Amino acid sequence: MSLIYLDNNATTPMLPEVAEAMRPYLMEVYGNPASAHQAGKRARQALEDAREKTAAILDAHPDEVIFTSGGTEANNLAIFGLVGELRALTQPGSPGHIITSPIEHPSVAEPILQLEKQGVAVDQLPVDRQGVVQRESFSEFLRAETRLVTVMLANNEVGSIQPIAELVHLLEGRAAFHCDAVQSAGRIPVSFKQLGVTTLAISAHKFHGPKGVGALLVRRNTKVRPQLFGGHQQHGQRPGTEPVALVVGLATALELWQRDYRERTQKVLQLRRQLLEALEVDAAPIVLNGPRQGGVPHTLNLSFPGCQADSLLMNLDLAGVACSTGSACSSGSLLASPVLKAMSVAEEALHSAMRFSLSPVLTEEKIAEAVSRIVGVVRRLRQMGSDSRKG
Ligand SMILES: Cc1ncc(COP(=O)(O)O)c(C=O)c1O
Repeated sequence: MSLIYLDNNATTPMLPEVAEAMRPYLMEVYGNPASAHQAGKRARQALEDAREKTAAILDAHPDEVIFTSGGTEANNLAIFGLVGELRALTQPGSPGHIITSPIEHPSVAEPILQLEKQGVAVDQLPVDRQGVVQRESFSEFLRAETRLVTVMLANNEVGSIQPIAELVHLLEGRAAFHCDAVQSAGRIPVSFKQLGVTTLAISAHKFHGPKGVGALLVRRNTKVRPQLFGGHQQHGQRPGTEPVALVVGLATALELWQRDYRERTQKVLQLRRQLLEALEVDAAPIVLNGPRQGGVPHTLNLSFPGCQADSLLMNLDLAGVACSTGSACSSGSLLASPVLKAMSVAEEALHSAMRFSLSPVLTEEKIAEAVSRIVGVVRRLRQMGSDSRKG
């Protein structure tokens, strides 16, 4: 049975053009970009070209791009790097205050938890039933000691898009603003300049690039305390020999997205509509968690009352459909999703939620086949549930 891959928020398949662009830098161009000889210069040229392309597509300056090992590192660097730098400026005895949201990815939520353990005060903005933070209450949370606001752009579980530019406007420059755009860059247009944030994280494997590379954009004249020491690369902000082939892969994947994004968006929106409408009829009753429209096109979170998420996931896997119960990093965990809880999703829907995440590599035929497999599994599990209640 062929696999139908509906877990593109966990990771996406790398495009052949990306692998092709990376190949010379895995083989022939192997110099260290820091070396002064010809071999090093060729590698350095490729690295700086990739930095320029990445910056241009995300509407940033090349010197604002720091390459990292992925989204997790970019988020950690921003949070610890900004707060570390800002705490150094505060008066002794004032560990500072952070405003965040309850729907952040663990690579943001957990660094914040670490800072909270060190005495930093933390507030979470409320979110509505669609998974959007309530901007109306933002100003009430601001304090004189607020050092950092960190809110993601698109949520990885339900696809809601957060009003980042509005929050930055309300902040009036009183604190730094970090934005986790890992589920947005390479999926929807992202302008670093227009968002107005201090730092922004992206990750290549979420947009058909290679795993193990991402970037943190850091606004000019902003100090981010390095989290690694021992080299002068990337102005010492993120030392270590740069992975040239991976960085070339990241920039190529972004370029392909920029070339094709209109068609990709149309196609993915159409596939999402097809999946949702078919399941609403054939797998009724279902509950849509997150926005029907206006979220990112590639994410659809649905609950199937009468089923348990863990058995759904396992049986869908056996039926050749790859999806997820929540964020990729908590897959396999039976705990209810904190994102859905924050959205006040009702108890039964909370424990029967599945995330289907799409990509333009899919086809209408694949979605139709996925619907038939999902409906088969859901009906069987509901039947088993009702039989065991009778028995
Ligand atoms: C919103 C969000 N932020 C950060 C990450 C972590 O990115 P990476 O896998 O590149 O470390 C993920 C990955 O699932 C994500 O969805």
